Amino acid sequence: MAEFTVRRGALQAEGVSLERLAREVGTPFYVYSAASLRRAYRAYADAFAHLPATICYALKANSNQAVLRVLAREGAGADVVSGGELKRALAAGIPAARIVFSGVGKTDDELAYALRRGVGQINVESDAELDALDRVARRLGKRPHVSLRVNPDVDAGTHAKITTGTAENKFGIDFATARRLFAGAGKRQVRLDGLALHIGSQLTDLKPLARAYGRVAVLVRELRAAGRTVARLDLGGGLGIRYRDETPPTPASLARVVEKDVGKLGCALTLEPGRSIVGEAGLLVSRVIYVKDGTARRFVVADAAMNDLIRPALYGAYHEILPVRRRKGAARAVDVVGPVCESSDTFAVQRRLPPVKAGDLLVFGSAGAYGSVMASTYNTRPLVPEILVDGKRHAVVRPRIGVEALIAQDRVPTWLDRGARRR
Ligand code: LLP
Repeated sequence: MAEFTVRRGALQAEGVSLERLAREVGTPFYVYSAASLRRAYRAYADAFAHLPATICYALKANSNQAVLRVLAREGAGADVVSGGELKRALAAGIPAARIVFSGVGKTDDELAYALRRGVGQINVESDAELDALDRVARRLGKRPHVSLRVNPDVDAGTHAKITTGTAENKFGIDFATARRLFAGAGKRQVRLDGLALHIGSQLTDLKPLARAYGRVAVLVRELRAAGRTVARLDLGGGLGIRYRDETPPTPASLARVVEKDVGKLGCALTLEPGRSIVGEAGLLVSRVIYVKDGTARRFVVADAAMNDLIRPALYGAYHEILPVRRRKGAARAVDVVGPVCESSDTFAVQRRLPPVKAGDLLVFGSAGAYGSVMASTYNTRPLVPEILVDGKRHAVVRPRIGVEALIAQDRVPTWLDRGARRR
Protein backbone atom coordinates (compact mmCIF):
# COMPACT_ATOMS: atom_id res chain seq x y z
CA MET A 1 0.00 0.00 0.00
CA ALA A 2 2.86 2.34 -0.84
CA GLU A 3 0.44 4.92 -2.26
CA PHE A 4 -1.29 5.34 1.10
CA THR A 5 1.00 7.21 3.45
CA VAL A 6 0.80 9.31 6.58
CA ARG A 7 1.44 13.02 6.02
CA ARG A 8 1.03 15.68 8.68
CA GLY A 9 -0.33 13.09 11.05
CA ALA A 10 -3.06 11.72 8.79
CA LEU A 11 -3.39 9.08 6.09
CA GLN A 12 -3.46 10.23 2.50
CA ALA A 13 -4.22 8.52 -0.78
CA GLU A 14 -1.34 9.60 -3.04
CA GLY A 15 -1.45 13.40 -2.73
CA VAL A 16 -5.02 13.67 -1.46
CA SER A 17 -6.11 13.89 2.16
CA LEU A 18 -8.65 11.28 3.23
CA GLU A 19 -10.07 13.74 5.77
CA ARG A 20 -10.77 16.13 2.95
CA LEU A 21 -12.43 13.41 0.84
CA ALA A 22 -14.59 12.42 3.83
CA ARG A 23 -15.75 16.03 4.21
CA GLU A 24 -16.47 16.24 0.51
CA VAL A 25 -18.41 13.01 -0.11
CA GLY A 26 -19.33 11.84 3.39
CA THR A 27 -18.60 8.35 4.72
CA PRO A 28 -18.33 5.50 4.05
CA PHE A 29 -16.58 5.57 0.68
CA TYR A 30 -14.10 3.56 -1.35
CA VAL A 31 -10.95 5.25 -2.58
CA TYR A 32 -8.63 3.87 -5.26
CA SER A 33 -5.11 4.89 -6.17
CA ALA A 34 -4.46 5.11 -9.91
CA ALA A 35 -0.70 4.90 -9.32
CA SER A 36 -1.15 1.66 -7.40
CA LEU A 37 -3.31 0.20 -10.20
CA ARG A 38 -0.70 1.12 -12.79
CA ARG A 39 2.12 -0.27 -10.68
CA ALA A 40 0.33 -3.58 -10.18
CA TYR A 41 -0.56 -3.90 -13.85
CA ARG A 42 2.97 -3.03 -14.97
CA ALA A 43 4.42 -5.64 -12.63
CA TYR A 44 2.54 -8.25 -14.69
CA ALA A 45 3.25 -6.63 -18.05
CA ASP A 46 6.98 -6.43 -17.29
CA ALA A 47 7.20 -9.92 -15.79
CA PHE A 48 5.55 -11.49 -18.83
CA ALA A 49 7.02 -9.20 -21.52
CA HIS A 50 9.34 -11.95 -22.80
CA LEU A 51 6.48 -14.46 -23.13
CA PRO A 52 3.61 -14.46 -25.65
CA ALA A 53 1.15 -13.46 -22.91
CA THR A 54 -1.92 -11.23 -22.64
CA ILE A 55 -2.86 -9.84 -19.24
CA CYS A 56 -6.65 -9.99 -19.05
CA TYR A 57 -7.70 -8.18 -15.90
CA ALA A 58 -10.55 -10.07 -14.14
CA LEU A 59 -13.33 -7.50 -13.91
CA LYS A 60 -15.14 -9.35 -11.17
CA ALA A 61 -12.67 -7.92 -8.65
CA ASN A 62 -13.61 -4.32 -9.41
CA SER A 63 -15.46 -3.18 -12.51
CA ASN A 64 -15.72 0.57 -12.03
CA GLN A 65 -15.35 2.28 -15.40
CA ALA A 66 -12.60 4.58 -14.14
CA VAL A 67 -10.57 1.66 -12.78
CA LEU A 68 -11.03 -0.13 -16.10
CA ARG A 69 -10.01 2.96 -18.01
CA VAL A 70 -6.75 3.25 -16.08
CA LEU A 71 -5.99 -0.38 -16.94
CA ALA A 72 -7.21 -0.11 -20.55
CA ARG A 73 -4.79 2.78 -21.06
CA GLU A 74 -2.01 0.53 -19.84
CA GLY A 75 -2.97 -1.99 -22.51
CA ALA A 76 -4.84 -4.51 -20.34
CA GLY A 77 -7.27 -7.02 -21.78
CA ALA A 78 -10.20 -8.29 -19.73
CA ASP A 79 -11.58 -11.50 -18.28
CA VAL A 80 -15.38 -11.27 -17.96
CA VAL A 81 -17.94 -13.69 -16.55
CA SER A 82 -21.26 -12.22 -17.62
CA GLY A 83 -22.85 -10.24 -20.42
CA GLY A 84 -22.88 -7.31 -18.02
CA GLU A 85 -19.14 -7.46 -17.40
CA LEU A 86 -18.56 -7.80 -21.13
CA LYS A 87 -20.51 -4.59 -21.70
CA ARG A 88 -18.52 -2.86 -18.98
CA ALA A 89 -15.21 -3.92 -20.48
CA LEU A 90 -16.22 -2.73 -23.95
CA ALA A 91 -17.60 0.52 -22.53
CA ALA A 92 -14.22 1.21 -20.93
CA GLY A 93 -12.51 0.85 -24.29
CA ILE A 94 -10.96 -2.60 -23.89
CA PRO A 95 -10.78 -4.10 -27.40
CA ALA A 96 -13.06 -7.13 -27.91
CA ALA A 97 -10.14 -9.11 -29.27
CA ARG A 98 -8.42 -8.80 -25.86
CA ILE A 99 -11.45 -10.04 -23.92
CA VAL A 100 -11.90 -13.57 -22.59
CA PHE A 101 -15.41 -14.66 -21.66
CA SER A 102 -15.36 -17.20 -18.79
CA GLY A 103 -18.00 -18.53 -16.39
CA VAL A 104 -19.92 -21.73 -15.70
CA GLY A 105 -23.37 -20.62 -16.76
CA LYS A 106 -23.42 -18.43 -19.86
CA THR A 107 -26.82 -18.14 -21.51
CA ASP A 108 -27.45 -18.32 -25.27
CA ASP A 109 -28.14 -14.58 -25.25
CA GLU A 110 -24.83 -13.81 -23.56
CA LEU A 111 -22.96 -16.11 -25.96
CA ALA A 112 -24.64 -14.50 -28.98
CA TYR A 113 -23.76 -11.04 -27.70
CA ALA A 114 -20.13 -12.10 -27.20
CA LEU A 115 -19.93 -13.55 -30.71
CA ARG A 116 -21.47 -10.47 -32.31
CA ARG A 117 -18.98 -8.25 -30.50
CA GLY A 118 -16.11 -10.51 -31.53
CA VAL A 119 -14.58 -11.43 -28.19
CA GLY A 120 -11.14 -12.97 -28.53
CA GLN A 121 -11.76 -16.18 -26.63
CA ILE A 122 -14.60 -18.01 -24.95
CA ASN A 123 -13.84 -20.44 -22.15
CA VAL A 124 -16.29 -23.31 -22.01
CA GLU A 125 -16.92 -25.25 -18.81
CA SER A 126 -19.11 -28.20 -19.87
CA ASP A 127 -19.97 -30.31 -22.90
CA ALA A 128 -23.52 -28.91 -22.79
CA GLU A 129 -22.13 -25.39 -23.01
CA LEU A 130 -19.90 -26.36 -25.93
CA ASP A 131 -22.99 -27.65 -27.77
CA ALA A 132 -24.91 -24.47 -26.98
CA LEU A 133 -22.05 -22.26 -28.15
CA ASP A 134 -21.63 -24.29 -31.33
CA ARG A 135 -25.33 -23.86 -32.10
CA VAL A 136 -25.25 -20.11 -31.51
CA ALA A 137 -22.05 -19.76 -33.56
CA ARG A 138 -23.60 -21.65 -36.49
CA ARG A 139 -26.69 -19.44 -36.36
CA LEU A 140 -24.52 -16.32 -36.46
CA GLY A 141 -21.93 -17.68 -38.89
CA LYS A 142 -19.06 -17.05 -36.46
CA ARG A 143 -16.01 -19.19 -35.71
CA PRO A 144 -14.79 -18.11 -32.26
CA HIS A 145 -11.68 -19.38 -30.52
CA VAL A 146 -12.80 -21.63 -27.69
CA SER A 147 -10.80 -22.98 -24.79
CA LEU A 148 -11.95 -25.75 -22.49
CA ARG A 149 -11.62 -24.93 -18.84
CA VAL A 150 -10.22 -28.08 -17.36
CA ASN A 151 -10.22 -29.00 -13.75
CA PRO A 152 -6.71 -30.13 -12.80
CA ASP A 153 -7.95 -31.51 -9.46
CA VAL A 154 -5.41 -29.63 -7.39
CA ASP A 155 -6.18 -28.17 -4.00
CA ALA A 156 -5.07 -24.55 -4.02
CA GLY A 157 -4.80 -24.48 -0.24
CA THR A 158 -6.88 -21.33 0.03
CA HIS A 159 -10.26 -20.60 1.65
CA ALA A 160 -12.85 -23.28 0.80
CA LYS A 161 -15.24 -20.70 -0.62
CA ILE A 162 -12.69 -19.45 -3.14
CA THR A 163 -11.05 -22.70 -4.17
CA THR A 164 -12.08 -23.85 -7.63
CA GLY A 165 -9.70 -26.47 -8.94
CA THR A 166 -10.65 -29.67 -7.13
CA ALA A 167 -12.91 -32.45 -8.41
CA GLU A 168 -15.56 -31.43 -5.88
CA ASN A 169 -15.92 -27.93 -7.40
CA LYS A 170 -18.51 -26.96 -9.98
CA PHE A 171 -15.78 -25.50 -12.19
CA GLY A 172 -14.14 -26.94 -15.27
CA ILE A 173 -14.11 -30.23 -17.13
CA ASP A 174 -12.26 -33.37 -16.13
CA PHE A 175 -9.40 -34.45 -18.37
CA ALA A 176 -11.18 -37.52 -19.80
CA THR A 177 -14.11 -35.40 -20.98
CA ALA A 178 -11.68 -32.83 -22.36
CA ARG A 179 -9.97 -35.56 -24.46
CA ARG A 180 -13.34 -36.69 -25.78
CA LEU A 181 -14.41 -33.14 -26.67
CA PHE A 182 -11.12 -32.44 -28.46
CA ALA A 183 -11.54 -35.68 -30.41
CA GLY A 184 -14.77 -34.27 -31.86
CA ALA A 185 -13.37 -30.76 -32.38
CA GLY A 186 -13.07 -31.12 -36.17
CA LYS A 187 -16.83 -31.44 -36.58
CA ARG A 188 -17.56 -28.19 -34.79
CA GLN A 189 -18.27 -24.73 -36.03
CA VAL A 190 -16.21 -23.21 -33.20
CA ARG A 191 -12.42 -23.45 -33.16
CA LEU A 192 -11.73 -25.55 -30.10
CA ASP A 193 -8.02 -24.85 -29.82
CA GLY A 194 -7.18 -24.02 -26.24
CA LEU A 195 -7.23 -24.99 -22.59
CA ALA A 196 -7.93 -22.85 -19.54
CA LEU A 197 -7.56 -23.36 -15.82
CA HIS A 198 -7.97 -21.44 -12.60
CA ILE A 199 -7.55 -23.23 -9.30
CA GLY A 200 -8.46 -20.61 -6.73
CA SER A 201 -7.93 -17.14 -5.41
CA GLN A 202 -5.70 -15.46 -2.80
CA LEU A 203 -2.94 -18.00 -3.44
CA THR A 204 0.06 -17.33 -1.26
CA ASP A 205 2.06 -20.28 -2.51
CA LEU A 206 2.90 -21.09 -6.13
CA LYS A 207 3.32 -24.83 -5.62
CA PRO A 208 -0.33 -25.78 -6.27
CA LEU A 209 -0.30 -23.64 -9.41
CA ALA A 210 2.92 -25.27 -10.59
CA ARG A 211 1.35 -28.68 -10.01
CA ALA A 212 -1.75 -27.67 -11.98
CA TYR A 213 0.31 -26.24 -14.84
CA GLY A 214 2.34 -29.43 -14.92
CA ARG A 215 -0.80 -31.56 -15.25
CA VAL A 216 -2.17 -29.35 -18.00
CA ALA A 217 1.15 -29.46 -19.86
CA VAL A 218 0.90 -33.27 -19.89
CA LEU A 219 -2.62 -32.97 -21.28
CA VAL A 220 -1.47 -30.55 -24.01
CA ARG A 221 1.23 -33.02 -25.12
CA GLU A 222 -1.27 -35.90 -25.12
CA LEU A 223 -3.79 -33.98 -27.17
CA ARG A 224 -1.14 -32.96 -29.67
CA ALA A 225 0.14 -36.53 -29.94
CA ALA A 226 -3.43 -37.47 -30.87
CA GLY A 227 -3.36 -34.88 -33.62
CA ARG A 228 -5.34 -32.10 -31.93
CA THR A 229 -4.48 -28.40 -32.02
CA VAL A 230 -3.76 -26.69 -28.72
CA ALA A 231 -2.62 -23.17 -29.51
CA ARG A 232 -3.78 -21.28 -26.41
CA LEU A 233 -3.40 -21.68 -22.73
CA ASP A 234 -5.30 -19.55 -20.24
CA LEU A 235 -3.56 -19.75 -16.89
CA GLY A 236 -6.24 -18.04 -14.79
CA GLY A 237 -5.72 -15.61 -11.94
CA GLY A 238 -5.32 -16.17 -8.26
CA LEU A 239 -2.17 -14.46 -6.96
CA GLY A 240 -2.71 -13.38 -3.38
CA ILE A 241 -2.19 -9.96 -1.86
CA ARG A 242 -1.21 -8.70 1.54
CA TYR A 243 -4.14 -8.41 3.93
CA ARG A 244 -2.22 -8.99 7.13
CA ASP A 245 1.29 -10.42 7.08
CA GLU A 246 1.23 -12.57 3.96
CA THR A 247 4.15 -12.42 1.56
CA PRO A 248 2.35 -13.26 -1.65
CA PRO A 249 4.26 -14.40 -4.73
CA THR A 250 5.09 -11.66 -7.20
CA PRO A 251 4.12 -11.66 -10.88
CA ALA A 252 7.82 -12.14 -11.64
CA SER A 253 7.94 -15.35 -9.61
CA LEU A 254 4.72 -16.48 -11.29
CA ALA A 255 6.32 -15.81 -14.67
CA ARG A 256 9.24 -18.07 -13.73
CA VAL A 257 6.83 -20.91 -12.88
CA VAL A 258 4.91 -20.34 -16.10
CA GLU A 259 8.09 -20.33 -18.15
CA LYS A 260 9.32 -23.54 -16.61
CA ASP A 261 6.07 -25.51 -16.68
CA VAL A 262 4.27 -24.35 -19.80
CA GLY A 263 6.61 -21.86 -21.46
CA LYS A 264 7.99 -24.34 -23.97
CA LEU A 265 4.65 -25.50 -25.35
CA GLY A 266 4.53 -22.64 -27.84
CA CYS A 267 1.00 -21.63 -26.79
CA ALA A 268 -0.36 -18.09 -26.70
CA LEU A 269 -0.81 -17.42 -22.99
CA THR A 270 -3.49 -15.55 -21.06
CA LEU A 271 -3.39 -14.48 -17.43
CA GLU A 272 -6.49 -13.40 -15.54
CA PRO A 273 -5.38 -11.53 -12.43
CA GLY A 274 -8.04 -9.65 -10.51
CA ARG A 275 -7.27 -9.23 -6.83
CA SER A 276 -3.52 -8.70 -7.31
CA ILE A 277 -4.20 -5.74 -9.64
CA VAL A 278 -6.81 -3.84 -7.60
CA GLY A 279 -6.77 -5.28 -4.09
CA GLU A 280 -4.07 -3.16 -2.52
CA ALA A 281 -5.07 -0.13 -4.60
CA GLY A 282 -8.25 0.45 -2.61
CA LEU A 283 -9.38 1.39 0.89
CA LEU A 284 -12.79 1.62 2.47
CA VAL A 285 -13.03 4.74 4.61
CA SER A 286 -15.56 4.82 7.41
CA ARG A 287 -16.43 7.01 10.39
CA VAL A 288 -16.90 5.75 13.92
CA ILE A 289 -20.49 6.35 15.03
CA TYR A 290 -20.21 5.12 18.60
CA VAL A 291 -17.79 3.50 20.94
CA LYS A 292 -19.84 1.18 23.09
CA ASP A 293 -18.64 -0.61 26.18
CA GLY A 294 -20.48 -3.88 26.59
CA THR A 295 -20.13 -5.99 29.71
CA ALA A 296 -17.46 -8.16 28.14
CA ARG A 297 -16.08 -6.10 25.28
CA ARG A 298 -15.64 -2.71 23.76
CA PHE A 299 -17.38 -2.29 20.41
CA VAL A 300 -16.37 0.29 17.85
CA VAL A 301 -19.48 0.85 15.73
CA ALA A 302 -18.47 2.09 12.28
CA ASP A 303 -20.77 3.57 9.64
CA ALA A 304 -19.57 0.95 7.12
CA ALA A 305 -21.20 -2.45 7.32
CA MET A 306 -21.22 -5.95 5.88
CA ASN A 307 -23.31 -4.73 2.95
CA ASP A 308 -20.43 -2.40 1.95
CA LEU A 309 -17.60 -4.90 2.49
CA ILE A 310 -18.85 -8.44 2.92
CA ARG A 311 -15.54 -10.32 2.95
CA PRO A 312 -15.15 -10.51 6.75
CA ALA A 313 -18.74 -11.74 7.21
CA LEU A 314 -18.65 -14.16 4.28
CA TYR A 315 -15.16 -15.59 4.48
CA GLY A 316 -13.97 -14.54 7.91
CA ALA A 317 -11.49 -12.44 5.94
CA TYR A 318 -8.99 -10.19 7.67
CA HIS A 319 -8.75 -6.54 6.61
CA GLU A 320 -6.33 -4.23 8.30
CA ILE A 321 -8.09 -1.44 10.23
CA LEU A 322 -6.29 1.82 10.93
CA PRO A 323 -7.36 5.21 12.19
CA VAL A 324 -6.78 7.94 9.61
CA ARG A 325 -5.31 10.10 12.38
CA ARG A 326 -3.69 8.14 15.14
CA ARG A 327 -4.45 9.29 18.68
CA LYS A 328 -1.87 9.01 21.39
CA GLY A 329 -2.36 6.32 23.97
CA ALA A 330 -2.18 2.60 24.47
CA ALA A 331 -3.74 0.18 22.01
CA ARG A 332 -6.50 -2.06 23.28
CA ALA A 333 -8.55 -4.91 21.91
CA VAL A 334 -11.93 -3.96 20.44
CA ASP A 335 -14.56 -5.49 18.18
CA VAL A 336 -15.15 -3.39 15.08
CA VAL A 337 -18.72 -3.79 13.91
CA GLY A 338 -21.18 -2.18 11.52
CA PRO A 339 -24.76 -1.01 12.09
CA VAL A 340 -26.52 -3.87 10.23
CA CYS A 341 -28.87 -5.99 12.32
CA GLU A 342 -26.87 -9.22 12.22
CA SER A 343 -24.10 -10.53 14.42
CA SER A 344 -22.12 -11.39 11.31
CA ASP A 345 -21.83 -7.66 10.63
CA THR A 346 -18.45 -7.78 12.32
CA PHE A 347 -15.23 -6.59 10.71
CA ALA A 348 -12.83 -7.61 13.45
CA VAL A 349 -12.97 -9.41 16.76
CA GLN A 350 -10.66 -8.42 19.60
CA ARG A 351 -8.44 -6.37 17.32
CA ARG A 352 -5.83 -4.17 18.96
CA LEU A 353 -6.45 -0.59 17.90
CA PRO A 354 -5.04 2.70 19.17
CA PRO A 355 -7.60 4.83 21.05
CA VAL A 356 -10.65 5.55 18.92
CA LYS A 357 -13.47 8.01 19.55
CA ALA A 358 -16.83 8.67 17.94
CA GLY A 359 -16.33 10.78 14.83
CA ASP A 360 -12.87 9.37 14.04
CA LEU A 361 -12.15 8.09 10.55
CA LEU A 362 -11.04 4.49 10.06
CA VAL A 363 -9.73 2.77 6.96
CA PHE A 364 -10.15 -0.85 5.97
CA GLY A 365 -7.06 -1.89 4.05
CA SER A 366 -6.71 -3.92 0.85
CA ALA A 367 -10.36 -3.33 -0.03
CA GLY A 368 -9.97 -2.56 -3.73
CA ALA A 369 -10.83 -6.11 -4.82
CA TYR A 370 -14.17 -7.80 -4.13
CA GLY A 371 -15.25 -4.78 -2.08
CA SER A 372 -17.62 -2.44 -3.86
CA VAL A 373 -18.52 -5.06 -6.48
CA MET A 374 -19.93 -7.35 -3.78
CA ALA A 375 -21.82 -4.57 -2.01
CA SER A 376 -25.57 -4.68 -1.56
CA THR A 377 -28.21 -2.35 -0.20
CA TYR A 378 -29.23 -4.63 2.68
CA ASN A 379 -31.00 -2.71 5.46
CA THR A 380 -31.71 -0.08 2.76
CA ARG A 381 -28.25 1.28 3.03
CA PRO A 382 -27.09 3.39 0.08
CA LEU A 383 -24.35 2.02 -2.18
CA VAL A 384 -21.19 3.80 -1.12
CA PRO A 385 -19.40 6.19 -3.47
CA GLU A 386 -16.10 5.40 -5.14
CA ILE A 387 -13.29 7.92 -5.59
CA LEU A 388 -10.25 7.67 -7.82
CA VAL A 389 -7.10 9.52 -6.80
CA ASP A 390 -4.36 10.20 -9.32
CA GLY A 391 -1.46 12.20 -7.93
CA LYS A 392 -2.96 15.37 -6.50
CA ARG A 393 -6.20 14.93 -8.46
CA HIS A 394 -9.29 13.09 -7.38
CA ALA A 395 -12.72 12.42 -8.84
CA VAL A 396 -15.90 10.76 -7.63
CA VAL A 397 -16.07 7.84 -10.06
CA ARG A 398 -19.39 6.56 -8.73
CA PRO A 399 -21.62 8.80 -6.66
CA ARG A 400 -23.48 7.50 -3.66
CA ILE A 401 -26.59 5.69 -4.88
CA GLY A 402 -29.04 7.05 -2.36
CA VAL A 403 -32.15 5.75 -0.69
CA GLU A 404 -34.51 7.80 -2.89
CA ALA A 405 -33.02 6.15 -5.98
CA LEU A 406 -33.49 2.73 -4.40
CA ILE A 407 -37.12 3.36 -3.43
CA ALA A 408 -37.77 4.72 -6.91
CA GLN A 409 -36.89 1.28 -8.34
CA ASP A 410 -39.84 -0.35 -6.60
CA ARG A 411 -43.33 -0.45 -8.18
CA VAL A 412 -46.61 -0.76 -6.34
CA PRO A 413 -49.16 -2.83 -8.31
CA THR A 414 -52.18 -0.81 -9.43
CA TRP A 415 -54.56 -2.82 -7.24
CA LEU A 416 -52.65 -1.71 -4.16
CA ASP A 417 -52.12 1.78 -5.39
CA ARG A 418 -55.18 3.63 -4.09
CA GLY A 419 -55.48 4.55 -0.48
CA ALA A 420 -52.92 3.50 2.07
CA ARG A 421 -55.29 1.54 4.28
CA ARG A 422 -58.25 -0.72 3.71
CA ARG A 423 -61.50 0.56 5.19
N1 LLP B 1 -10.25 -16.27 -13.47
C1 LLP B 1 -11.26 -17.03 -13.02
C2 LLP B 1 -11.79 -18.09 -13.88
C3 LLP B 1 -11.78 -16.81 -11.73
O1 LLP B 1 -12.76 -17.57 -11.28
C4 LLP B 1 -11.25 -15.77 -10.92
C5 LLP B 1 -11.78 -15.50 -9.59
C6 LLP B 1 -10.20 -14.99 -11.45
C7 LLP B 1 -9.72 -15.28 -12.73
C8 LLP B 1 -9.58 -13.88 -10.68
O2 LLP B 1 -8.96 -14.36 -9.55
P1 LLP B 1 -8.06 -13.41 -8.63
O3 LLP B 1 -6.83 -13.03 -9.42
O4 LLP B 1 -8.87 -12.22 -8.28
O5 LLP B 1 -7.75 -14.25 -7.47
N2 LLP B 1 -14.96 -12.93 -3.78
C9 LLP B 1 -13.80 -13.69 -3.37
C10 LLP B 1 -12.93 -14.07 -4.55
C11 LLP B 1 -13.63 -14.85 -5.62
C12 LLP B 1 -12.74 -15.19 -6.79
C13 LLP B 1 -13.51 -15.82 -7.89
N3 LLP B 1 -12.76 -16.11 -9.08
C14 LLP B 1 -13.03 -12.90 -2.32
O6 LLP B 1 -13.47 -11.80 -1.95
O7 LLP B 1 -12.01 -13.36 -1.81
